[in-house]
Amino acid sequence: MGNLFRRYWIPFLLSDEVAEAGCPPVRVKLLSEPLIAFRDSNGDLGLIEEFCAHRRVSLWFGRNEEGGLRCPYHGWKFDVHGNCLEIPSEPEDSVIKQEARLTAYPCVERGGIVWAYMGPAEEQPPPPAFEWATVPADQCYHTKRLQESNYLQALEGGIDSSHVGFLHTGELRSDPLHHGSKGSDYHLSDRKPRFEVKESIGGLHLGVRRNAGDDKFYWRVTPWIMPWYTIVPPYGDNPLHGHAWVPIDDENCFAWTFSYHPSRPLSELELGVMTEGGSLHVKQSPVTFRPLANRDNDYLIDRAAQKVGTSSSGVKGIAMQDASIQESMGRVADRARENLVQTDRGIGLARRQLLRAAKDLEKGKLPPGLSPASQAVRSASFELDRKIPFDEAPGEPLKVKQGVAHTSI
Ligand code: FES
Ligand SMILES: [Fe+2]
Repeated sequence: MGNLFRRYWIPFLLSDEVAEAGCPPVRVKLLSEPLIAFRDSNGDLGLIEEFCAHRRVSLWFGRNEEGGLRCPYHGWKFDVHGNCLEIPSEPEDSVIKQEARLTAYPCVERGGIVWAYMGPAEEQPPPPAFEWATVPADQCYHTKRLQESNYLQALEGGIDSSHVGFLHTGELRSDPLHHGSKGSDYHLSDRKPRFEVKESIGGLHLGVRRNAGDDKFYWRVTPWIMPWYTIVPPYGDNPLHGHAWVPIDDENCFAWTFSYHPSRPLSELELGVMTEGGSLHVKQSPVTFRPLANRDNDYLIDRAAQKVGTSSSGVKGIAMQDASIQESMGRVADRARENLVQTDRGIGLARRQLLRAAKDLEKGKLPPGLSPASQAVRSASFELDRKIPFDEAPGEPLKVKQGVAHTSI
């Protein structure tokens, strides 16, 4: 699975974490690999292996100076491509300098996010084309938080829309970016939705339908884009939210939340809610990105709110409800003890697609989700004549139309 993930651009830093040329280096771990990210004095981004080629000191202690990172132990210096530029104790023409290369991965910046490509150089795909990474800066707000579980159970939470009307009921009623739309009323009034899943060029389109009068259905469609992206169906004119669950190692991941509006700047109210840790974002440490509500303080569970029924789990906030529930499964959930039902169909299909893509790659077949067309999709919510399948809705609501608002009720 790691080999598969290496074929994609991987979001790993907020541009703000390496805001200025020559700023301090940042520790990064991706796919269990310890790395160091830095922006050199020319403004170029580097992601190199963490340990110095001399005697393996962590280059997190390095000094970011003219054109490279200098190890503080004996002064060996490396550039963003992993080349060793200088060994102070060796003669100028020393061959050791040529041999002392560090692993380095190319980076791109899109939408205020730094992405790395860790696969074979000749297979590097086109840069990320997700809508949230291409809208103007005033139309988006992105955060990441540390999640102390395997990426897959987090990803499965994003595909499992059937939990929304249960786990998040309290927030659907109270969160200013969720309540008050026709969609949220339908959502709360029908607790037995039907699920339909269709394969798409990048992964799956997960349709959830509820009754909307005698001849119509209310549809909420979540795209899942390989390998770990989902886009949450919208409510009214509120911003769209995308997610990515990026493996740090087998037992931890970064949960990214990408909030954006395709056709207008985010309002003060929306930004206020999100920066305060509301909507799908959380309050967290700006250094470790660990949420302030976490397993050490039992996620600040409010048993009284749970008892009176204003909250299903007693944990506050949509994102923390998801995080706490998914972390509670253990670092790696035991799938052998599950009992899957009708509403888990999307999860079963996503697991199968991931496994199939990993096996196909071993046979030389490129995985889905690499092309810009497979990434340029949106979620949508709409009413539709009962006779029309959701993927044949008029106006192609799942397609990105630059500068045009999303389809949402
Ligand atoms: S360990 Fe880095 S220069 Fe010696
Ligand atoms: Fe959720």
